[in-house]
Amino acid sequence: MTAIGIDKIGFYSPAYYLDLASLAARDGIDPQKYHQGIGQERFAMPPHDEDCVSLAANAAAAILTPEDIAAIDTLLLATESGIDQSKAAAVYVHRLLGLRPNCRAIELKHACYSATAGLQLACAYVAANPKRKVLLIASDISRYDMHSAAEATQGSAAVAMLISANPRIAALEGNAGCHTHDVMDFWRPNHRHTPLVDGKLSTLIYLQASEAAWRDYQAQGGADFASFAQFCYHLPFSKMGIKAHQRLCKINDIAEDSGKIAAGMIYNRDIGNSYTAALYLSLCSALDHRDDLSGELVGMLSYGSGCVAEFFALRIQDGYINQRRKNEHAALLANRQALSLAQYEDFWHRQEYSQHDNLDLPNYAGGKYRFAGIENNERRYTLREKA
Ligand code: CAA
Repeated sequence: MTAIGIDKIGFYSPAYYLDLASLAARDGIDPQKYHQGIGQERFAMPPHDEDCVSLAANAAAAILTPEDIAAIDTLLLATESGIDQSKAAAVYVHRLLGLRPNCRAIELKHACYSATAGLQLACAYVAANPKRKVLLIASDISRYDMHSAAEATQGSAAVAMLISANPRIAALEGNAGCHTHDVMDFWRPNHRHTPLVDGKLSTLIYLQASEAAWRDYQAQGGADFASFAQFCYHLPFSKMGIKAHQRLCKINDIAEDSGKIAAGMIYNRDIGNSYTAALYLSLCSALDHRDDLSGELVGMLSYGSGCVAEFFALRIQDGYINQRRKNEHAALLANRQALSLAQYEDFWHRQEYSQHDNLDLPNYAGGKYRFAGIENNERRYTLREKA
């Protein structure tokens, strides 16, 4: 059977971050609550001229060649940071990247889960049409009310993946385990710019849903827990992944091995929650930081509040090391600028939320594309001038 899966993968994250030590100092909190308690160091903070479109286009532009751009006939953009109730963010990205006109472009939503739905749909499509290529992008800005308990779990990133036959990074294995349950742990009604969240309930439901998805994966004939060399979890904060791993180890009666999760948490600790992108950022982190995963199985646990969880497996391909973007990812993070609390507050208060019909945004540091503003209610995207 032809292998189908991830041929290329890379991430983009904003050029600015807030150190959690600053947040702890502002609130008179022991910084170890963040560093150890939730397992985070800092979070990426988008400037005014980044949104889910510019983040997505910047992630994809970094991995695609002109040949890829000519071959892609489907673009799936997973996000819960949507900018329009009707027009798909994917269509803006389609234009910015110069994808061909006879290409479908849609936006997918289910909290942090929808990129996994996108991966399954893309692989099924390519299995039926092995010459086709799909661009799958997960792009999000995690934003919570200031001075809420969730504020420390903000962040932002986009992960772009090229899905094809005979992939050079990872093939999707056949079995997947799913769990859906209607629950109000985290949601964002249309009139709100920040979500409503029951933090404690959300962590409880995440663990229950992870267990249920794993049990379904087993019922579907999935691989044994011991056969995985690495696990990647949806990471709203890295401690959440540690707790999910402990739970799966316990129900499988297997001693916990942090060596199977630590490499997958390095980027997320520095970038914070990136919602749909977080699981795939964890995959980038594992690919970039494990010595050699060639031929190994990686267990992937996807969770989206509300809620859906899915456990599935990727088989890492021989030669993936030549395709990974470790140096580019390191340079992206090394070039970020630390924000003062005043700058962070300025970025947090996004002018675009104030129902502007017209808005001209200054040029900040960042990737190739930027959200330049709004003209007569139409969003404008341009190439970024070097700040
Ligand atoms: N030193 C070391 N550890 C400390 C500490 C200190 N000085 N002070 C506290 N801690 C520890 C606590 O013991 C606790 O650890 P355990 O969970 O292992 O007991 C940890 O730090 C966090 O402390 P609190 O429970 O007091 O934290 P909190 O109530 O202030 O907020 C939170 C935690 C509920 C996760 C909050 O950040 C939140 O609401 N976040 C948003 C929701 C979220 O991310 N939920 C995750 C599941 S839902 C999901 O995954 C979807 C998604 O992306 C949103």
